[in-house]
Amino acid sequence: MDYRAISAQGPALSQVNADALVVVLTPELIQTGDATLDRIVDETVKADDFALKAGRTLYVHRPAGLKSARLVLAVASSAQPKGVKAAVGKALNSVKELGVANAAVAVAQGLSLTDSHAQALVQAVADATYVFRHTKPSAPKPGALKKVTVLCADTELAAVKQGLTRGEALAKGVTLARELGNLPGNYCTPSHLAQEARQLARTHKHIKVEVLERPALEKLKMGSFLSVTNGSAQPPKFIVLRYQGAAASQAPLVLVGKGITFDTGGISLKPGAGMDEMKYDMGGAASVLGTFRTIAELQPKVNLIGLIPTCENMPSGTATKPGDVVTSMSGQTIEVLNTDAEGRLILCDALTYAERFKPAAVVDIATLTGACVIALGHQHSGLFSADDELAQALLTAGQEALDTAWRMPLDEEYGESLKSNFADLGNVGGREGGAITAAVFLSKFTQAYRWAHLDIAGSAWKSGAAKGGTGRPVGLLTQFILNQAVAGAGAIQPLPTKSTKTVGKVSAAARRPVAKKAVAKTARKKAVAGQA
Ligand code: BES
Ligand code: MN
Ligand code: ZN
Repeated sequence: MDYRAISAQGPALSQVNADALVVVLTPELIQTGDATLDRIVDETVKADDFALKAGRTLYVHRPAGLKSARLVLAVASSAQPKGVKAAVGKALNSVKELGVANAAVAVAQGLSLTDSHAQALVQAVADATYVFRHTKPSAPKPGALKKVTVLCADTELAAVKQGLTRGEALAKGVTLARELGNLPGNYCTPSHLAQEARQLARTHKHIKVEVLERPALEKLKMGSFLSVTNGSAQPPKFIVLRYQGAAASQAPLVLVGKGITFDTGGISLKPGAGMDEMKYDMGGAASVLGTFRTIAELQPKVNLIGLIPTCENMPSGTATKPGDVVTSMSGQTIEVLNTDAEGRLILCDALTYAERFKPAAVVDIATLTGACVIALGHQHSGLFSADDELAQALLTAGQEALDTAWRMPLDEEYGESLKSNFADLGNVGGREGGAITAAVFLSKFTQAYRWAHLDIAGSAWKSGAAKGGTGRPVGLLTQFILNQAVAGAGAIQPLPTKSTKTVGKVSAAARRPVAKKAVAKTARKKAVAGQA
């Protein structure tokens, strides 16, 4: 897709020569300053052919007085990026099957376009034009659309161009994550994910990749991760991605993505209905790969590590059995009470591995629990962290990127149910608060650094007629990383190094450097306002 921004407003709009001119209005902002367009809006509203209600569109073929061959009016719920994104999406869907190769997008007077609007607009275009064809070549062709031009004011031009660039890079990462999620389990194996990572490193010189195979994992004593792969014929892989955009001395951000390429539940087998959707159980891994794809393009001044433990969770004669006790890389033993709680078993070893990077912060991303879907539905990803500053930074990034998360509790008390008579930890608590006990389990492996966990079980894909990967939370993660890059000295700093023994006892307040408090406060205010 070719994205442009040009300055064109008011009377200039009727002179724009596009296959389709999309004009975004809101219920309050209905004037464009172009007499022809304003007359069309006025007449169609008066004739009850067009209602100025959020979500409505009106298609006009060969509108008299306009150079463009087609006009689509679209009403946004608000002048905010979120509203404009939805309206542009609707408008594009309404011309999807038409011969529109070149579309121009304008907005009503009074709706000022920012970089965030432009970024959201690109996302809307990418969403409207994405088609999964990999195993369905007969799927409808992506459509004719090749070029999208944003029409804006002179003063908005620089910001809009910046937003388009960021949006384009983001769309590539989101599309990669969607595509990998949608790929069936017999295509998207752990080896395939490793190949994708290698491909990223081949095409982007700022990315380096290393893939650890079983012997290396055995040497590292990743007994918990390896126990999950016991029933599978596919070899496990541990993918390490590196992006260096800042001085080597700068502590990196580490992303850890759950990469279960298919989750049958193992011996604790899942019910058959809907089990196909467990091909999306590598959504965390896909979001890490997608984020690296975007970051490689935008090249922010940060250092980033991506860790992807990936394997299948299968039942077989060699599979791990309920009651088996495994030893994690951290040395803690785990009683595998339910082989379907496998995500935490592969993540805990990756989280221990993350310590060696002396990270500024670690964020893991996982389709971890059905309980998170019950708690939050599909709107927000679940965010768990004992670190207020890190949590706020992620919540804010989510709001900015229109890829939101909702903070969940993480009290130690929830960990009571993880006690075992036969190991340091059981791998499941009860059914109640299942998303939280899963997070508390992970927290037992993250005492050496600042850590947050995103449960994306409800946000990584859609079920039903629109079944498909969403590419979330590539938007949130990218925004978080970009924000950290611009924050400079205000960015999240690593915990002061302590021996692993004492570090667990550092209070939450002590973890927050005093100088950062003001920043955290503003972020918190913003986040709270957005959530209310
Ligand atoms: N991958 C699933 C979580 C999941 C289930 C995501 C359904 C989206 C929809 C995970 O490995 C799992 O099976 N979790 C169990 C944990 C339970 C055994 C404690 C769950 O959520 O049922
Ligand atoms: Mn499972
Ligand atoms: Zn799973």
